Amino acid sequence: MSTHRETSTRRLTAPDIFARKGGVPLVCLTAYTAPMAGLLDAHCDVLLVGDSLGMVVHGLPNTIGVTLEMMILHGQAVMRGSRRALVVVDLPFGSYEGAPEVAYANAARVMKETGAGAVKVEAAAVIAGNIEYLVARGIPVMGHVGLRPQAVMADGGFKAKGRCEAERRRILEDARATEASGAFAIVIEGVAEALARDVTSVAKVPTIGIGASVGCDGQILVTEDMLGLFDWTPKFVRRYAELHGEIDRAVGRYADDVRTGLFPGPAEIYFAKTRQA
Ligand code: KIV
Repeated sequence: MSTHRETSTRRLTAPDIFARKGGVPLVCLTAYTAPMAGLLDAHCDVLLVGDSLGMVVHGLPNTIGVTLEMMILHGQAVMRGSRRALVVVDLPFGSYEGAPEVAYANAARVMKETGAGAVKVEAAAVIAGNIEYLVARGIPVMGHVGLRPQAVMADGGFKAKGRCEAERRRILEDARATEASGAFAIVIEGVAEALARDVTSVAKVPTIGIGASVGCDGQILVTEDMLGLFDWTPKFVRRYAELHGEIDRAVGRYADDVRTGLFPGPAEIYFAKTRQA
């Protein structure tokens, strides 16, 4: 069990996270619901309402079908469940890559309706202008380079990136453009370890790794992956619990008890109040 619990009640801000470059590594996890946010809050610097919720919570095959409304609903729940961590909400596919005015309207709606402290975008150099537009208008933006799940259709699957020279140069350029456009931090996902180190050493903003490198300024995982909720997890996930088996066993015991009439027992039912004399 972690001995470190954050007790301060002031909610962290994007500038607080920016100031942590090169310091104690940032602890980040995804959260989609109020009770989970409540459990994670004391341990984490950043709670990301990732669009991975489309796959983890809603059973979608990828994040392409995730809507702004889904992100807002889960963002509101995570804000209600947490008090200290910076809550960052992913902008979903199709909500920020076109006209900057549309990106701004969508990002502003997320900030207003959830109360979250920042948004995240999957940042290729080509949308750097939109990041700059949002940042100039008061919206803190976290970037995301390397394996970009919203590009799954163009990439033909979820594949590690930056293992050949052309990809390496492109990811360095994406990170450089993201930083130059004013992002306060950059998630680096699924890249060759040495590339994650290189991005971290040139970037003046904190990098947050997932399948990247221990040399990043922080780490993030999908909470349900690290808790072992699924049979399969990607190579870069360390499973800190085995909830899949735990839940299977618990539900099996419940089903047996219901079928054999052992649940509910006397301690789990109400009795009529005895009449007062
Ligand atoms: O959507 C998500 O959960 C993410 C993290 C994996 C970084 O983007």
